Amino acid sequence: HAQKPFINEALTDFSKEELRYAQAMALEQVKNELGQTYPLIIGGKKIVNERTFTSFNPGQPDQVIGKFSSANSAQTQEAIQSAKTAFETWKRVPATERAGYLFAAAALMRQRRFTMNAWMIYEVGKSWPEADGDTAEAIDFLEFYGREILRLADEQPITHIDSEDNELVYIPLGVAAVIPPWNFPCAIMAGMTSAAFGAGNTVVLKPASTAPTIAYQFIRILEEVGLPAGVVNYITGSGAAIGDTLVDSPDVRFISFTGSREVGLHIYAHAAHTQAGQRWLKRTILEMGGKDAIIVDDTADVEAATASIVSSAFGFQGQKCSAGSRAIILASVYDEVVKRVVEKTRKLTIGDVTQPETYLGAVIDQQAHKKIMEYIEIGKGEGKLVLGGQSHGPGYFIEPTIFIDVDSHARIAQEEIFGPVLTIIKAKDFDDALTIANDTEFGLTGSLYSTDAQHIDRAKEEYHVGNLYFNRKCTGALVGVHPFGGFNMSGTDSKAGGHDYLLLFTQAKAISASK
Ligand code: NAD
Ligand code: ALA
Repeated sequence: HAQKPFINEALTDFSKEELRYAQAMALEQVKNELGQTYPLIIGGKKIVNERTFTSFNPGQPDQVIGKFSSANSAQTQEAIQSAKTAFETWKRVPATERAGYLFAAAALMRQRRFTMNAWMIYEVGKSWPEADGDTAEAIDFLEFYGREILRLADEQPITHIDSEDNELVYIPLGVAAVIPPWNFPCAIMAGMTSAAFGAGNTVVLKPASTAPTIAYQFIRILEEVGLPAGVVNYITGSGAAIGDTLVDSPDVRFISFTGSREVGLHIYAHAAHTQAGQRWLKRTILEMGGKDAIIVDDTADVEAATASIVSSAFGFQGQKCSAGSRAIILASVYDEVVKRVVEKTRKLTIGDVTQPETYLGAVIDQQAHKKIMEYIEIGKGEGKLVLGGQSHGPGYFIEPTIFIDVDSHARIAQEEIFGPVLTIIKAKDFDDALTIANDTEFGLTGSLYSTDAQHIDRAKEEYHVGNLYFNRKCTGALVGVHPFGGFNMSGTDSKAGGHDYLLLFTQAKAISASK
């Protein structure tokens, strides 16, 4: 059926009283649903194990969001077999029908916008606008990939010759292991899952252990739109416990992973090892971490630059792969930029994210809290702490923290901290700033604030990142508008939300018939 051209879902304007009311009501409603027990779903069968783990509110760790079964290795194998069986029929389902499930899921998610937001506010500590952006991005992925499925099913451009009839068709790969992170628990989870099954594959989805409830809300939507059993199987449990079983299986055809560099490299190595009975080279789509920078030169609009440094560093507590965790400032404007960044950061509110005005919530869990606090201690020996550095319980709250005068080779300038910690580095001149920006093993996002056309041209050539921004923040890529993915240790540059993305979830078959 004819689709309207893709447009991004609008963000909710929470300055409107009625929309604030709707979000508050959804938070109340979801509060009544907290603490339930959720099953694994294998081939449509719901299974509850005796061994469970809990997902809790990071801002209030005694508030249980949900209880989840710890899947064992046999159940992981069962989920793979269920996906393998379902693939035999699902791979023959026409593209229009497959795309239809994505459009129907997008429509349901749109209706449940505030409920989906509420689950994320409770489960991962997103502020209202951050949660709302996440749900909007999930809807965008469904709408965008739905259209891509139809486009790929159309006749593909090839060169025609008189003596033959030729065509190129995209066919699915097989069983996908989909392993998303917790930090965009709706958008990235739904995006990777829907790209996989939308392209005709079947899926074993293993959500992050700190965000399984929001994934379950998506699974509910897929059930409601009538996606056949076995097409998406849902298993929960620690990645360390069942990840290898999933990745190593000879029946898994490809792995779609977004997460840390460490786990990404682990999966890459495991997937490369051919198992007995395996008939293919396992494909890996791996999107990993970042140590993203914002450069400010001496021609920049300092007010705009400092506002973006603050929102890129501290939005969602700095827990974005795209977070601007490094600010690289030319010496001539350094003091002014530092002063304004500190002033602006001081004004950020931290606390209960169920309140609309709160900017920062808690970091995801105890382990993250410990790691971030360790980096803050390391930072004290590597730079000058000018703001924050403290944590506040009982939730995992960490103040927005700023270190200045940091050497570009310091650990806090090189390693992904994944928390509310900003490292500010002084550059001698623009050449030095670009060198520092690129002197990282990552290459995900980067931003330059400048009005100098030559600097902008040079950055286009030399700033080695998958997503380069000028005079805007380095977070908040929009589906379709800014296809998203990074270079080097940031991953395989798979460009989620771009026209090349679904090709990674398919294989192309060239068909030729002599006339
Ligand atoms: P993580 O690597 O700890 O976990 C990601 C997923 O992998 C989870 O589902 C986890 O359970 C699973 N996992 C853990 N061990 C596994 C194993 N041995 N085998 C298989 N799966 C395993 O990452 P996280 O803490 O959930 O997410 C934060 C990280 O993700 C950050 O590094 C961030 O930069 C990155 N990230 C990258 C992008 C991107 O597009 N490049 C987007 C979002 C997040
Ligand atoms: N796509 C997300 C962003 O750009 C990670 O912030």
